[in-house]
This record gives sequence, structure tokens and C-alpha cells, in this order.
Amino acid sequence: MTSPFTIAIDGPAGAGKGTLARRLADHYRLNLLDTGLTYRAVAHALLQVGLPLDNVSAAETAARQVDLTKLDRAVLSAHAVGEAASKVAVFPTVRRILVEKQRDFARTPPGAVLDGRDIGTVVCPDADIKLYVTASAEVRARRRLAEIESIGGTADFAEILADIVRRDERDMGRADSPLKPAAEAHLLDTSEMAIEAAFLAAMAVVDDVLARRNKA
Ligand code: DC
Repeated sequence: MTSPFTIAIDGPAGAGKGTLARRLADHYRLNLLDTGLTYRAVAHALLQVGLPLDNVSAAETAARQVDLTKLDRAVLSAHAVGEAASKVAVFPTVRRILVEKQRDFARTPPGAVLDGRDIGTVVCPDADIKLYVTASAEVRARRRLAEIESIGGTADFAEILADIVRRDERDMGRADSPLKPAAEAHLLDTSEMAIEAAFLAAMAVVDDVLARRNKA
């Protein structure tokens, strides 16, 4: 691989893009960035000091302080942090600050897999590969419930589903960088597909692009 190689993965919460991104990054030995963690870090910083999530200047300051090497998934993966992240992610100035950091990351050799909501459309519009990973809201809610139950927790399916639908509406309905497939994105619907099958489908797309690159 000559110039940094970029794989952009977008899709709604819970579609399986995180797992797919990790598998692809491991397989092709690329750096990996879950850009959702950057929005979560901003939300977490505000929550920690009790500031409202619509305090734009505090969110901008928190965004400037985000260090991509210090994103703590264990702390940031809490459900409430994800909800809050979706709220701070509507502010264009916050997005601009985080997008710059994400682009710097993508430019670092040998390249990267980035997953989020606007990678193929805004962060890396020239990505070598663009994937849009989706699944029905019901399937995503069922998976989330199974995940919670597998660690001994309990939750209400209807509540989880309502949460997912609300988050989709916010992420797809915002004015700046809404979640949508890039024009040339390969669609992967994981509703009826195991992660292994999704990985194999994605690998076929990447291998095809790499083979054409090597011929050129
Ligand atoms: O993927 P996630 O659940 O960690 O993302 C949390 C929120 O962050 C998501 O609801 C919207 C926002 N986000 C975004 O606006 N753009 C991205 N590239 C990634 C996440």
C-alpha cells in the first residue's frame, strides 16, 4: 500500500459496524478509529461537571481537549453517554473540531478504518472503500437486549427499540452531516447476516479495490 489507505464505515447505532471495523483493521493491518468515541468523550466531559449538553462553548472546549490516544472505551461505552453524544453531535462547531482530528488520524500511514455516521460523506469523502452497514431497528434492539442479558442485566425490549428509533431520528435528521449512505457506498444489511458473513462480504469489496490498485 502506497498512500494511506482508508476504509470508511457508516451506519446507525447497533448495526455491527464497530465489530466489522475491528475485523477489517486487524486483517488489513490498518489503524482503527471509532469516531463515536470522540463525540462520547465530549458528552462525558460535560456530564462529569454537570454542564447542560446544549452549552456549545463548553462542548467546543471539550472537543479541543479530545486526545485520540486516550479514548477510554470502558468509561465512554455507557448507554447514557451515547445518548448525550448524539445531542452534542448536532453542533457544527463541535463537529468541525473533531472532524479535523479524525482526518489527521486517517492521513497517518499506513491508513485506517474509521467508523461513524459521516465518514464516507464528510470526514473522508475520498476514502478508498465506503461501506454503509445497517440493520432493521427491531434486529438492532434484539441484539442490544441479548447483549445486556448476556452480562446478567435486564431491560425492556420496547424501551430499547424506542431508544434506537429516537437516536436514528436525531442522527439522520440533524442539519449538519446527517447519517446517510455516501453515493458510492456499498450497502451491507446485517439484519439477516451474521457478522462473519458481513466481514466476508466487506473483504470481497476491499480485495477487489486492492487488486485493481495493484494493477494500475
Ligand atoms: O457510534 P456511537 O453510538 O458511539 O455514536 C454516539 C453518537 O455520536 C451518535 O449517536 C452520533 C454521534 N456520532 C456522529 O455524529 N458522527 C460520527 N461520525 C460518530 C458518532
